[in-house]
Amino acid sequence: MNSKHESKILFRHEEIETTIKRLATEIQRNYKGKYPLLIGVLKGSFIFLADLVRQLDFPLEVEFLQVSSYGKKRTSQENINFFQGLKSPIEGREVLIVEDIIDTGRTTRFVFDYLFGNKPASLQLCALIDKPSRRQVLITVNYLGFTAPDEFLVGYGLDYDEKYRNLPDIYILENK
Ligand code: IMP
Ligand code: MG
Repeated sequence: MNSKHESKILFRHEEIETTIKRLATEIQRNYKGKYPLLIGVLKGSFIFLADLVRQLDFPLEVEFLQVSSYGKKRTSQENINFFQGLKSPIEGREVLIVEDIIDTGRTTRFVFDYLFGNKPASLQLCALIDKPSRRQVLITVNYLGFTAPDEFLVGYGLDYDEKYRNLPDIYILENK
């Protein structure tokens, strides 16, 4: 960690690995033989998605969307936009959204509504972390890794001002 920032570990890599195996078992049960399309929401989900798909032992496809991010601000943006939308149609596909963390839920709601409008056969949500105390819109998480307290988390794909994504463990960032 940067010496400017104090932190403590919330989820160790070994625990994340165990959780991903559990999620993969649940996902496998539902999607095996259905040739699903897993859509990662960039940038935060890139490590989670990479680890998750390597635990899924059946044919699938991977796609990415990128939405506007926090930047240095700690509150979610009211106006969410796409940096990168869908590149190919998802009509009739079994689609699974893969999110890093759900905070207010606004980003996920935006992504969900956009994908739903593109007429997938089914649309479900997998999130590594949920911060339910911060929720502002209703979101149903079908596959959930961890529930976290109302703290700012970094590591394992999660950033603060684009830093710390490469840390193998997930930390609570205490001194910003
Ligand atoms: P929401 O729209 O408020 O649910 O925010 C969702 C997005 O904000 C997530 O996909 C993350 O990219 C980012 N975010 C929310 N909480 C955290 C956090 O604790 N650490 C890092 N990024 C976060
Ligand atoms: Mg995100």
